[in-house]
Amino acid sequence: NQDRLALPVGTTLDRFIMRKQEDFPYATGELSQLLRDIALAAKIVNREINRSGLIDITGAYGQQNVQGEEQQKLDVIANIRFIRALRNGGEVCTVISEEEEDMIQTGKNHGKYVVAIDPLDGSSNIDVNVSIGTIFSIYRRQSAIGQEGTQEDCLQKGVHQVAAGYVIYGSSTMLVYTTGNGVNGFTYEASLGEFFLSHPNITTPQSGNIYSINEGSANSFPEGVKQFVQYCKDQSFSARYIGSLVADFHRNLLKGGIYIYPPTHKAPNGKLRLMYECNALAFIVEQAGGKASTGKQRLLEIEPTSLHERCPLFIGSTELVEKAEAFLSPEP
Ligand code: AHG
Ligand code: MN
Ligand code: MN
Ligand code: MN
Repeated sequence: NQDRLALPVGTTLDRFIMRKQEDFPYATGELSQLLRDIALAAKIVNREINRSGLIDITGAYGQQNVQGEEQQKLDVIANIRFIRALRNGGEVCTVISEEEEDMIQTGKNHGKYVVAIDPLDGSSNIDVNVSIGTIFSIYRRQSAIGQEGTQEDCLQKGVHQVAAGYVIYGSSTMLVYTTGNGVNGFTYEASLGEFFLSHPNITTPQSGNIYSINEGSANSFPEGVKQFVQYCKDQSFSARYIGSLVADFHRNLLKGGIYIYPPTHKAPNGKLRLMYECNALAFIVEQAGGKASTGKQRLLEIEPTSLHERCPLFIGSTELVEKAEAFLSPEP
């Protein structure tokens, strides 16, 4: 019955996961455990982020990742923490990560799930105390249990996600996730070491007046994007761009708005990665009543071909995403 489902604000994440599991009579608890493993790693990374100015873990690590980006120390630390928590939890056979060129086999070949993760999103903001995040997608493996996960297990379309979420390490630390039945947000109380339900059943406004795009690249935007940005200005929208996808996305999710990372000369297919940034947020925004597109197609329908492939991202309030799409493919 409905009131059993509407758990009160203040419910702990553990109780929430347990109660929701009851809704899946055949669930054997592995996905619940996997979500707990991710929450544990988030608590550990949260503590390290909050102390990063005090212990020597700010700044560059001194290596580049497969993206050709200078890895920050916290990129590497978060990557290690999340992979270790997923390995120790035992529910995941294989992980793909922004910070790992190839699939990482956990050795737990009886794990039913594979995870795609951006361990630390918004790295350029770490040292200047601006909100950063973690983004994750969870898929059920397609290959037989008992062997290592395969490339096909890791390259599934976004529509096949069983769960997706993000952590935002901001003025407060929150975990926001979906398992396909709506979106719920939990706020971390560090003194208790617990996440508490603070944003039950998040739905995003159908429209909004915030647009998020890096206008530093405006000269190389596709024509339709230039026209849509001009439309936003003509409507006197607010321009808000934090430079951390998770923070820009979270604000727009709650307030309404659109985030765009379009093709540019520097990034002809956009900068954001399909498997561990775009698919997770696309699943979440659709579950919250919004829309996620490449400008041409529903983002969750993209057939992945490589672990680190990039795609253009138009995500947020349905009316704004559809307005942007209209500028991109003018009626014949
Ligand atoms: P990451 O730090 O995981 O590499 O992601 C950075 C991404 C995203 O967080 C942000 O929205 C975008 O890069 C900012 O890119 P620009 O600086 O090119 O605008
Ligand atoms: Mn990066
Ligand atoms: Mn990122
Ligand atoms: Mn990252």
